[in-house]
Amino acid sequence: MDEQIVILDFGSQYTQVIARRIRECKVYSTIIHHVTPASKIAMMNPKGIILSGGPCSVYDRKAPLPDSGVFELGVPVLGICFGLQIMAKFLGGNVERGLKREYGKGMLRVRNSSCRLFDGLPRELQVWNSHGDKLTKLPRSFKAVATTENSGFAAIENVRSSFFGLQFHPEVVHTPKGKKIISNFVRKICNCGRRWTMRNYVTQAVEDIRSQVGRGKVILGLSGGVDSSVAAALIHKAIGKRLTCIFVNNGVLRANEAGVVKEVFGRNFKVKLHYENATALFMRKLKGVHDPEKKRKIIGNTFIDVFQKATRKVGKARFLAQGTLYPDVIESVPIGGNPAALIKSHHNVGGLPEKMKFDLIEPLRCLFKDEVRQLGTELGLPKEIVMRQPFPGPGLAVRILGEVTPERCEILRNADSIVVEEMKTNRLYYKIWQSFAVLLPVRSVGVMGDERTYDYTIAIRAVESKDGMTADWVKLPYGVIETLSNRIINEVDGVNRVCLDVSSKPPATIEWE
Ligand code: XMP
Repeated sequence: MDEQIVILDFGSQYTQVIARRIRECKVYSTIIHHVTPASKIAMMNPKGIILSGGPCSVYDRKAPLPDSGVFELGVPVLGICFGLQIMAKFLGGNVERGLKREYGKGMLRVRNSSCRLFDGLPRELQVWNSHGDKLTKLPRSFKAVATTENSGFAAIENVRSSFFGLQFHPEVVHTPKGKKIISNFVRKICNCGRRWTMRNYVTQAVEDIRSQVGRGKVILGLSGGVDSSVAAALIHKAIGKRLTCIFVNNGVLRANEAGVVKEVFGRNFKVKLHYENATALFMRKLKGVHDPEKKRKIIGNTFIDVFQKATRKVGKARFLAQGTLYPDVIESVPIGGNPAALIKSHHNVGGLPEKMKFDLIEPLRCLFKDEVRQLGTELGLPKEIVMRQPFPGPGLAVRILGEVTPERCEILRNADSIVVEEMKTNRLYYKIWQSFAVLLPVRSVGVMGDERTYDYTIAIRAVESKDGMTADWVKLPYGVIETLSNRIINEVDGVNRVCLDVSSKPPATIEWE
């Protein structure tokens, strides 16, 4: 990317949010580890540098420190919270340990209206604080530009060097005008243009893919999920028929999943699509298996076998494409000095074995999920694919408690289609994180007409979430619950009872297994 802002990560839970806010201003941003040498940062040619917040005190023995050379690169620097304190410590200010943490909403008063960070903003702003230490003496050549009830130095600047510090967090939604502050920094102070758009990204990525692949061939495992679908559309745009997608039907897909993929990719996009129906094999392997983790393993391993065989059927290819996203490749900073510094293993996404001697191609590896969705739209993929809810790799198998049988798959698929259909009809499907049916392998007594029934129960699960890590159950309107219950009991053979899952995560998980 020709113009970028570099974010030095000191372990804040909000570092990725900073990166996303910058990109929302149509400016590219990259997160790097705080120990990155200044010489390496200089090679990245950043238009500006942001020092993130972090959980440590600048006084901790193991406090993360940047290379002091970052203040000599001649580019603007913005320190946020811990970033401001570390900047003050390096540049001659004084930070004191706060006796208690200042946490929550505060009111910022802008005292110096010539500070460009606050261009176009009112003199009083609601901001979000979360810090323990406090700046008590300004670093050399800095002046205070804004204050809060608890701090005379809530925003500071050194005009000559274009160094700025904010004690609060402009990146979080609780600082309602924070995005404008970030936009002022990247656009007015760092002079970045609006170049980071998905339209520009397509042009760049197509060129990159062509130069990486040359005359080679690419194979991609298409699951029908957002990431693999967008990767497929992008690579197809770059190299057309030299991309072959392999779609494996593992027998635990939702209703019509294979149909949608064949329709969109085979017929509309004219992608070379190899469809491998391995339903019978998966069902054989899952027979008699009750344990959730065993089911996951069997599905994962069988998928690898089937995929590997399919790659041989479609002919030799040098490259394997994967829909790896940016959050999977960011080197995470060990919080609070925890030695378990992780570089997430992203070269094995989907568990495909190393021995499959492919070169990897990962055209989404610098994108966040919301950008992948925008990219998909830019490439002409339908909303049904671009905005679809997450679906777990082991599919319906973790939504059928206990043994997976073809009969149970059929029942759950029918019930699940009704849930999806009603959520869409009631304009709820695209608003929430996930909504689906779960089959409980208990039979209970019911009566239908004059007949006694003894059938399965379906649970309805609908949750709101930002990332799947925590979730709240959705308070569906009674009318929707009523329709779901009536339709599932009347239309799905084998079900005579419907219940609603009202558990949040934690302590429950989103999937039942
Ligand atoms: P849980 O059930 O752990 O789910 O609260 C969190 C998110 O992860 C998805 N999930 C999976 N995805 N393979 C996947 O690819 C799995 O084995 C798996 N288990 C859960 C789940 O759908 C939710 O979005």
